Amino acid sequence: MSVLLLLNGPNLGILGEREPEIYGTDTLADIEKAVAAEIAPAGWEVRPVQHDGEGELIGAIHRNRHDTVGAIVNPGALMMAGWGLRDALAAYLRPWIEVHLSNVWAREQFRHESVIAPLASGVVVGLGAYGYVLAARALLHLGAGDA
Ligand code: DQA
Repeated sequence: MSVLLLLNGPNLGILGEREPEIYGTDTLADIEKAVAAEIAPAGWEVRPVQHDGEGELIGAIHRNRHDTVGAIVNPGALMMAGWGLRDALAAYLRPWIEVHLSNVWAREQFRHESVIAPLASGVVVGLGAYGYVLAARALLHLGAGDA
């Protein structure tokens, strides 16, 4: 079975309750279910991981380096200064896509830079929970499992 890593960073475990006017009402469990449904026909399954701490996220990337076919990464606020996360992703062996629920470009200036985006195969912003589904579809399209 091909496994897709779904990695969510700080404050994303409380999706659904967290500023729903910005991030929507879908919970992380809803998102995990939607991604699982998208990739199931291809014989892939999702491995969801959420941590608030950067070190735990880095550990999860290391542990999943060899046995996942690709990853969807919402780094949350670590997009702005998560250099350790960036280096862990540099050593990740498969294609991965950065996702942000909100359109970070339409928000505060401090959200306009991502230290991980230059390493991503692609970036999806501003499409809410559907952005994760699109990222999953893109990884299937890229043939992440064959990389
Ligand atoms: C976010 C955008 C980030 O700027 C913010 O810190 C988050 C969520 C998003 O999905 O829109 O935690 O990554």
